Amino acid sequence: MSKSEGWGSRVGLILAMAGNAVGLGNFLRFPVQAINNGGGAFIIPYIVCFLLMGIPLLWIEWSTGRFGGKNGNHSTPFIMGSLGKSSLWKYIGVFGIFTNIGVAAYYCYIESWTMAYVYHSVAGTFDGLSQSQVAAFFGSYIDVFHSTTGIPFEAVLFFLVCLGLNTFILSRGLDGVEKVAKIGMPLLILFGVVLAIRGLTLGTSGASAEHPTASAIDGLNFLWTPQFDSLTNPKVWLAAAGQIFFTLSVGMGSIQCYASYLKQRDDVALNAASAGFMNEFVEVVLGSSIVIPIAAGYLGLDWVKENAGFGMAFQTMPYLFEKWGPVLSMVAGVMWFGLLFFAGITSSLAMGTPWMGFMHDEFGWKRQKGAWSFGLIILILGLPTVFFYHQGVFEEYDYWAGTVSLVVFALIETILFAWVFGINNGWKEITRGADMKVPEFYKYIIKYVTPVLLTFVFLGSLITPKGNNWKVEISNLFSGNGWTLDNGSIIKQITNAGIYEQIAAATDPAVVLQLQDKLFYVNGARILLLLTFAGICFLVYLAHNKRKLKGGTA
Ligand code: TRP
Repeated sequence: MSKSEGWGSRVGLILAMAGNAVGLGNFLRFPVQAINNGGGAFIIPYIVCFLLMGIPLLWIEWSTGRFGGKNGNHSTPFIMGSLGKSSLWKYIGVFGIFTNIGVAAYYCYIESWTMAYVYHSVAGTFDGLSQSQVAAFFGSYIDVFHSTTGIPFEAVLFFLVCLGLNTFILSRGLDGVEKVAKIGMPLLILFGVVLAIRGLTLGTSGASAEHPTASAIDGLNFLWTPQFDSLTNPKVWLAAAGQIFFTLSVGMGSIQCYASYLKQRDDVALNAASAGFMNEFVEVVLGSSIVIPIAAGYLGLDWVKENAGFGMAFQTMPYLFEKWGPVLSMVAGVMWFGLLFFAGITSSLAMGTPWMGFMHDEFGWKRQKGAWSFGLIILILGLPTVFFYHQGVFEEYDYWAGTVSLVVFALIETILFAWVFGINNGWKEITRGADMKVPEFYKYIIKYVTPVLLTFVFLGSLITPKGNNWKVEISNLFSGNGWTLDNGSIIKQITNAGIYEQIAAATDPAVVLQLQDKLFYVNGARILLLLTFAGICFLVYLAHNKRKLKGGTA
C-alpha cells in the first residue's frame, strides 16, 4: 500500500468496512451460537454486548486508525506505539497483524468451500441426492486424501484458487478491495434478502411425512422469543461477547488498518456506527432468517438444535434447496454460496491489509511484494488446515487466533486508549470531524464500562468452571473445595487437558492412536502460530531499530 493510497469515496469506504465486518461469521457462526445458547436467551446479552463493547471498540479502532495514519502508520504496532510512550505497546500491536494472518489461514479455506459449492450447484452435483448423501459429499470433500468428489484433491485445488484470487486482488491495493466491496456487498444483500424472504414465508409448507411437525415459524420463534432466565448465565454472555468481537472484526487490527487510510478531516463517528449497524442488520436480520427457518421448516426445530454446527450450511442447505425443483435449487445454491463467498472474500481481503501496510511502512515493500508475501504465508499456514482438518488444526487456529487473541487485544487496546492515551484525548479523536453527535455518556462507557466488561470476559474465559456451572464452583470455592476448571477454559486448553482425559478414558487402541495423533497436530498448529507471532515481533524489533537509526519517531 503506498503512502498516497486512500479510499476512493465515502460509499466505497463504508462498503469496504461493512465488507470487512460482514463475513462468514454472520451467516455460519451467528446462527450456531444463537441456537447453542438458547435462541431467544442469546439475543439480549448479544445486544448489550454490541452496545457496551462493540460500538465503543468500533469508535476506538476507527479513531486510533485515523490517528495513526496521520504519521504514516498503517498497522497496529506503530499505531499503538504512537498512543503510549512505552515500547511495549508496539509489541502488543503485533496481535493486530498476527490475528489477521492466523484467521486468514483457516478462513480462506472455508471461503474456498463456498466457491466449490457454487460450482457444484451449477454443475447439478446435488440433484437427486438424499439428505445423507449431500452430507456425505461434504465429508468426502474435506477428506482430502480419499475424496470421491470427482475432482482429485478438490479441496486443495479450490483453496489454491481462492487464495490466489485474494492475493491478486490485494496486489491491486485499496482500489481493488474497494471495487470488490462495491460489487460484492450489494449482491450479498440482494441474495440474502431473496433467501430470507423464502425463509420467512416458508411457514409449515415444508412439513412432510418424515417430518410432520416441521415449521419455519418454530425456528423463528425460538430465536425471537426473549428469555430472561439465562441473563445470569456467564456462558451465554461469553458466547455473546465472542460473537460480537468476531462479527464486528474488532480486536483484530483490520479496522485500524482500513481507518488509517482516512483523511484527517474525515468523520469516524458516523462512519463507524453506520458500518457497525449495517453488519448487525446483515447478521441479525439476514443471518437469522435463512439457515434456521429453512432447516426448521423442512426438518423440524429439534433436528436443528441437535445438528447445529456450521456444517449445516454445506451439509444440509443444498439438500433442502432440491425441494424447490431443479432450476430454483440451482439458483438458490448459487445465491446462498455466492452470498457466503462475497461475505468471505470482503473479510479475507481485510485480513491481508495490516501485513501489507506494515511491510510497506517499515520496509518499503510495494503492493505486489506485500500481497504475494501474504499469500505465501497463508499458504504455509493454511495448508495444514486443509490436510489435517480432522486432526483439529482448524479449530486450534480458530480458538487461539480467532477467539482468545481478540479479547486480549481488545482489552489492552481499550486500556491504552482510555487510560494511557487518556479518555480526553481519545474523545477528541472520536468527535473530531464527526458528522453525528456522539452521546456524551459513551465517554464514561469507554472509560469504565468497556474495560471492566472486557476484563470479565477475559477472566471468564480464562477460568471457566467445570460444566460452565458458575454457581456450583463459586459455592465450592467458598466452602473450601477449590475451583474446578472446565476443559474449555483457556488454562485447561493450554495443557490439552480435554484430549488427555479422552485418551485416559478410551478403551479402543485405535481411538487412543487417533487422539495421540490429534495431540501431535494440535501442538504443531500451536508451534506454527507461536512462530508467526514471534516472527512478527522480530520484524517490529527490526523496524523499531531502523526508525531509531533514522532518528525518526520510533
Ligand atoms: N468479521 C468477519 C466475520 O464476521 C471476520 C473478520 C473480518 C476477521 N476481519 C477479520 C477475523 C480480521 C479476524 C481478523 O466473518
